[in-house]
Amino acid sequence: MHNSKITGVGKYLPEKIVTNFDLEKIMDTSDAWIRERTGIIERRFVNPDIETTSYMGAEASKKALKMAGLKPQDIDFIIFATLSADYFFPGAGCPMQIHLGIPGIGAMDIRNQCTGFLYGLATADQFIKTGMYKNILVVGSESHSAGLNMTTQGRDVAVLFGDGAGAVVLSATDEKNKGILVNKLHADGTYARELCVINPGSFTHPIVSHKDIDEGTIYPYMNGKYVFKHAITRFPEVILESLESAGLTIGEVDLVIPHQANQRITEAVQIRLGLPKEKVYSNIHKYGNTTAASIPIAMTDALEEGLIHDNDLISLASFGSGFTWAASLLKW
Ligand code: ACO
Repeated sequence: MHNSKITGVGKYLPEKIVTNFDLEKIMDTSDAWIRERTGIIERRFVNPDIETTSYMGAEASKKALKMAGLKPQDIDFIIFATLSADYFFPGAGCPMQIHLGIPGIGAMDIRNQCTGFLYGLATADQFIKTGMYKNILVVGSESHSAGLNMTTQGRDVAVLFGDGAGAVVLSATDEKNKGILVNKLHADGTYARELCVINPGSFTHPIVSHKDIDEGTIYPYMNGKYVFKHAITRFPEVILESLESAGLTIGEVDLVIPHQANQRITEAVQIRLGLPKEKVYSNIHKYGNTTAASIPIAMTDALEEGLIHDNDLISLASFGSGFTWAASLLKW
């Protein structure tokens, strides 16, 4: 059986920067409120004429491929995590193939919101470990700005999210004790309605109506306090679970890269794990919450900042809509 390891990472962020002060002009909010409650200073929004979710995924993938020293034609399979695909269907992995010029290989979308990237990574890991594929692109990409209520009514959610993409190349390796050591995946649909977008969805018939648009059920709903409470419990729980099954302890982790949900969540997790601030990565101030894209973007930034070294023990973790939560442990 092979191991799988990340051989390339890459990110793509739209050029357009939207600061908290820009949001103040279109809704009743303030830079101080957003910074204090979320840690976010600015985020990126797409140019919708060019930067579709699949386009951004392809651009991030090109950078990951370059780092891995591979061509698009070397990729055997695509796993694309997003909640904001170009179309309601098909998934964004299909149009991304075309941007990369590799039609024909398998492409699968994963709809697990903030944990989508880690569900994708775990799936790719299994395909590689069983010998089915050698090189897989695992992509997270989101165009949130197309689906947010950018008025005072939607401010509790709209100020949190930003657009962008991140990607990794996961490759087979025969090196021992290298690459992905453990994946832990969880979900509890009891809480499906606490963080969701109802329409378009077949829960209603038809999937979307003028009434749904008027009532705003096409926009994300979040029970913020509930999400906060569950996130700060599940993040540490799943990180410790992954360490335990690898026979490792939190003290051995070099860097935790959590899904960038909210700085207050990240700080609460860091305190609960008893870690110093510098061992829990954060870049939410620059990009906001980019859902499925946040972990691969954060990995790329952490690498560029010199925070990841050969043989480091890296813990990736996420919590989000579903509720779903997950962790992967890697030896870099
Ligand atoms: N600007 C200004 N005021 C706002 C805004 C805004 N953007 N949004 C809400 N408010 C107001 C509310 O209307 C409320 O006003 P009121 O007291 O007059 O009724 C007041 O601020 C406080 O609202 P609360 O909901 O009580 O604010 P809270 O202190 O709970 O903070 C927050 C809200 C930041 C969302 C918090 O619940 C939180 O941190 N939740 C975690 C959820 C989260 O960050 N999720 C990330 C996305 S999901 C994921 O990735 C897992």
